[in-house]
Amino acid sequence: MEQTLVILKPEIVARGLIGRILQRFEDKGLRIKDLVLKQLERETVEAHYAHHASKPFFQGLVDYMTSGPVVLAVLEGPQAITVVRNMCGHTNPVEALPGTIRGDFSVELPANAIHASDSPEAAQAEIQRFFG
Ligand code: CMP
Repeated sequence: MEQTLVILKPEIVARGLIGRILQRFEDKGLRIKDLVLKQLERETVEAHYAHHASKPFFQGLVDYMTSGPVVLAVLEGPQAITVVRNMCGHTNPVEALPGTIRGDFSVELPANAIHASDSPEAAQAEIQRFFG
């Protein structure tokens, strides 16, 4: 069994799509192990996206991620990190295929519906950061 962290981004909460996204993970067979609706602090988002700090979109990303509450969830299942990232689809909603979460629920960066951990190390650090 593996655990991963997802963040349902502010537009998903604002548009009333929390249930539909979480339903996809439950339909797939993943278990929700922890769940919270929360307004993130800038410092928390800056730490979470520290590896993007030098990118031109960083400030806009932090502004966006603190523009409203998000949903944080820990999902568990066999190879959950890979399974969830496949379900999310390409980072850029323009490239994300229909049938993926980003392909079905988002249109432009940085508002790409969802964040999901990209490695076991990231999952462990992110679960600790948000639920530790
Ligand atoms: P996420 O999977 O949460 O990881 C980093 C985030 O940065 C990404 O989703 C997008 O929200 C954002 N992002 C990545 N590339 C760009 C870009 N070129 N312009 C704006 N935002 C971006």
